[in-house]
Amino acid sequence: MLIFNYKADLEAHLAPYISKGSSIGFVPTMGALHNGHLSLLRQSVKDNNVTVISIFVNPTQFNNPEDLEKYPRTVDADIEQIATVSPDIIVFTPSVDEMYGGNTQSASFSFDGLEHQMEGSHRPGHFDGVGTIVKKLFEYVNPTRAYFGEKDFQQLQIVKKLVEKQNMPVQVIGCPITREPNGLAMSSRNQRLTGQDREKAAFIYKVLNEAKEKFKNEDVMQVKNYVEQAFAQHPEFELEYFEIADEDTLVPATVKENKKYRGFVAVMLSNVRLIDNISLN
Ligand code: PAF
Repeated sequence: MLIFNYKADLEAHLAPYISKGSSIGFVPTMGALHNGHLSLLRQSVKDNNVTVISIFVNPTQFNNPEDLEKYPRTVDADIEQIATVSPDIIVFTPSVDEMYGGNTQSASFSFDGLEHQMEGSHRPGHFDGVGTIVKKLFEYVNPTRAYFGEKDFQQLQIVKKLVEKQNMPVQVIGCPITREPNGLAMSSRNQRLTGQDREKAAFIYKVLNEAKEKFKNEDVMQVKNYVEQAFAQHPEFELEYFEIADEDTLVPATVKENKKYRGFVAVMLSNVRLIDNISLN
């Protein structure tokens, strides 16, 4: 398997593919890979002539230094997992210096308001960090298609907006959430949960499904109250937010209109922050 640490080497390797018009699929990650990432890779391998995955824990998108420090880093195991999808996948594992050249700062973006909702207000600066790194990675990889999981639905919408605003010729493809058999959305952060906590965390998806069911007959505020009460009865969870928002604008709803809605949740469990979402209609 080809592994590049330097952007110049990656660009030199990809240049002939780009000049002969081969399609390049790209899966940006922060490593600690799980089946969700592997499903993105499988989709990319199916759709494109060449697939690139980046593994880079991006410091500028962490608003909490402890979260950055504790973020799992498992590159050797990641590379073994990538090889099970295809040995032809190209891996890019740059250092912080390689990506930021000694100036580990984010640029400032406007994503037409998407950045102010939910994760944006709870994690100040997070989406500037994501925008900064995704833009750099897209510039180096020049992907035809880039694959993002719907677990980070807000991030997916923001990356689509980034590409639109920066006129980047990349098709951004959202892929369904991969779940554990008990319903817990797969996430690199799950590695920080004990086995018992992983079982408890199945409650999150259970409540989201109940919200979906209730949304058929009840109004927005009733469903919101139901979810808030459900978490309040399980004090091991600290609910940061539950929002019912318009899928396109991510603006939280207070009343139902003729729109596509999603329920979005962020909770703390044993000091690990978990997010999930579900399509409601
Ligand atoms: O979703 C992630 O893993 C990260 O936010 C991304 C897109 C790789 C940017 O660092």
